[in-house]
Amino acid sequence: MTLLEANQTLGVIGCGTMGEAIVRGILGSGNLAAAQIFASDARAEIATALTAKHGIRAGTDNLAVAHACHVALVCVKPYQIAGVLDHEAVRTALAGKLVISIAAGVRLEKLRGYLPGSAVIRAMPNTPALIGEGMAGLARGKGTSDAQMALALALFASVGRAQEVDEAHMDIVTAVAGSGPAFVFVLIDALADGAVRLGLRRDAAVAMAAQMVQGAARMVLQTGAHPAVLKDQVTTPGGCTIAGLGVMEDGKIRSVLARTIEEAARVAGKLG
Ligand SMILES: NC(=O)c1ccc[n+]([C@@H]2O[C@H](COP(=O)([O-])OP(=O)(O)OC[C@H]3O[C@@H](n4cnc5c(N)ncnc54)[C@H](OP(=O)(O)O)[C@@H]3O)[C@@H](O)[C@H]2O)c1
Repeated sequence: MTLLEANQTLGVIGCGTMGEAIVRGILGSGNLAAAQIFASDARAEIATALTAKHGIRAGTDNLAVAHACHVALVCVKPYQIAGVLDHEAVRTALAGKLVISIAAGVRLEKLRGYLPGSAVIRAMPNTPALIGEGMAGLARGKGTSDAQMALALALFASVGRAQEVDEAHMDIVTAVAGSGPAFVFVLIDALADGAVRLGLRRDAAVAMAAQMVQGAARMVLQTGAHPAVLKDQVTTPGGCTIAGLGVMEDGKIRSVLARTIEEAARVAGKLG
């Protein structure tokens, strides 16, 4: 699938960690050719490196990207959004175009305020997008069409999975998908600690715990089975797994994790 017509361009404004990850994923997926991506970044050295690494056009002029692009992906920090979008010339250049912002906590209403003539989408990707295993939630502004949303979803599907959500649920997406990797890194570290305590080497323990988490996650996604059903399938009566599960429940693991998401979502609501 190609995301855009051959003569159309994806503009990426702000191309640091996330912007470059998305560019790399799109190029790797073959969904766009390098000639179809034009990026700008405040740092000239980043622009030079983007051209050297990915063969895309890149510079420091946001307005040039806004003029040339068919779709704009804005990947600056939340506090930098106004500095990028709140200019008459940029507003005019982006009028009639689809603009996708990945800035955490910056609401559609604010984006629409900066760009009243554009179709806007707010997206929340996560860092596993760096290895093509991201999860992104996307919310659309008023007037954004199904075709524009489909294009945005396909763009993020180049670096993992993507799902449309109501903006009212964006803080939850930020907590589960955006912050979630950090929570799972702690789980992997803790599981590895247990194995190290019993005598396994640290590198072997981390690799084993991480691969186990990957395998379990893939089973949930690939089978579509409820996690509780999959858990029951590995729980032999009188066995070691049910013994371990009892310890997890003693530690109130379910409510701890559920409240972890609640708290992260509460704080996400105050960003931007
Ligand atoms: N990293 C994550 O885990 C993650 C996950 C989900 C969403 N996000 C969102 O993704 C966005 C980008 O995060 P990031 O980690 O990729 O940030 P980043 O690495 O700092 O990248 C942003 C880039 O934009 C540049 N920039 C700043 N102002 C600019 C302007 N006016 N015009 C053009 N470029 C400009 C920055 O330059 P300077 O360094 O000079 O400012 C930087 O190179 C954030 O809004 C964040 O909320 C991040």
